[in-house]
Amino acid sequence: MTNDRPDPCLIVIFGASGDLTRRKLIPSLYHLWTQGQMPEDFAVLGVARTPHTDEEYRQKILEFDPSEYEDDLWADFARRIRYLGADSTKSNDWPTITKKCHEIANEYRTRGNVLFYLSVGPQFFDPIIRSIGESGLVTDGGRARGPEGDGAWQRIVVEKPFGCELSSARQLNRAVGSVFEEEAVYRIDHYLGKELVQNLLVARFANSIFEPLWNQRYIDHVQISATEAVGLEGRGGYYDGPAGGAMRDMVQSHLLQVLSIIAMEPPVSLGADDVRVEKIKIFKALRVPDLEDVPKIAVRGQYDAGSVGGVEVPRYREEEGVDPQSQTDTYAALRVHIDTWRWGGVPFYLRSGKALQRKKTEIVVYFKPTPHCLFREHAKNMRPNQIVFSVQPNEGIRLRFVGKVPGLGMDIKEVVMDFDYIEEWQSEPPESYATLLYDAMGGDQTLFKHRDEIECSWMSVLPVLEYWDENPARKFPNYKAGTWGPSSADTMMSQEGRYWRNV
Ligand code: BG6
Repeated sequence: MTNDRPDPCLIVIFGASGDLTRRKLIPSLYHLWTQGQMPEDFAVLGVARTPHTDEEYRQKILEFDPSEYEDDLWADFARRIRYLGADSTKSNDWPTITKKCHEIANEYRTRGNVLFYLSVGPQFFDPIIRSIGESGLVTDGGRARGPEGDGAWQRIVVEKPFGCELSSARQLNRAVGSVFEEEAVYRIDHYLGKELVQNLLVARFANSIFEPLWNQRYIDHVQISATEAVGLEGRGGYYDGPAGGAMRDMVQSHLLQVLSIIAMEPPVSLGADDVRVEKIKIFKALRVPDLEDVPKIAVRGQYDAGSVGGVEVPRYREEEGVDPQSQTDTYAALRVHIDTWRWGGVPFYLRSGKALQRKKTEIVVYFKPTPHCLFREHAKNMRPNQIVFSVQPNEGIRLRFVGKVPGLGMDIKEVVMDFDYIEEWQSEPPESYATLLYDAMGGDQTLFKHRDEIECSWMSVLPVLEYWDENPARKFPNYKAGTWGPSSADTMMSQEGRYWRNV
């Protein structure tokens, strides 16, 4: 993200009355606007089925969370929000949608640039994309034309889930590709917009102290955890469906993306093409497990009733919208290998789950012990050196190593060197959607997923999903809400002499 203003544009949000639009998209656009990072000329057109006037829609957005907006600023910003009650999945409604887009584009002088945002359920992606294609709103695959590539552009932001397995992901890639060139497709993963995930790139490639150690000679293993304290938050219908479950919802998408950034080779530049080339290499090098190995490398869980932070949580199978016999994994852990020279023999352990003890997203790089231990009698206090990238909460980077305890004799203990984001910068990290929307308007695809990344990431988890489908879990539920997940996930680690970092 730079500080330049993006080109004028019209932002068309399909799914305008949904949670994501109210909670993230409009507040992010508003915050960009208050910081002078929106285009000089722009408008937002929200499209959803319920009929509303512009004013009613603005009011609904405001009432959803008034604390996000300052009265006088909001009034000014809200003038640029327009609304159309139409069913974007029905071709009959498209002449109206197209006409509205043209009208608003003229009124707000957005010069033919359009950012379409698919904030709808995945079952609606296909018909909407087809209708966008037929509407004539996209020219030349959305590519910016003109002698300098400075003509009008159209882009599409596609939310997850990007398919629910390989074939549906491929089909979606084909559908998007039939209307938009790859350079106009922005497959969003909000984890890539998180400040500390971007900081991984800086920590690795703007410093010389880490990179020499960043390989199988010095690194023992890497843990990537996204534990969540929340349960379903009313999303039972989605989560218990074909795209739900921790493996699909979190591991295949967010966690493998984070892994690709930790593991990639230094790119030639920070340009989107150069970064994505290196990420794709990692995705291609992900080992696809054999079916019979799945029980050794993957653990699934489903929560039982319990209490998280003093609040009672019902058993997953009793949540609203959930099948009482559900086989959905609300917890998934996976051991991944990257078959390259840099990473040969280094396991990456990924895990994510709902209704766990605490919300914590972190990446922990564990280093190998010294070749010879001079402090053998203190071995009980010896912990492996670790770099902890704390993505949320308590954003920061912490180096954990052992130091001498003050005093006579030679006592040693783990100590921490701490870069705490808030303490250092005296501000909260920006909302990841703001970063990503800004980049999409500015035409920077660095933090968006390429089609090959999606397909390779599905390939690497497919045997696990297949095995789980064919062999229903016999012991669901297998962890209590408010714990750290099923004990089998601890066993998977302890059998390899390792343990999850659960603090
Ligand atoms: C979403 C998942 O992509 O990420 C949710 O669909 C999950 O199930 C959420 O809760 C977690 O995001 P964050 O930013 O709160 O870690």
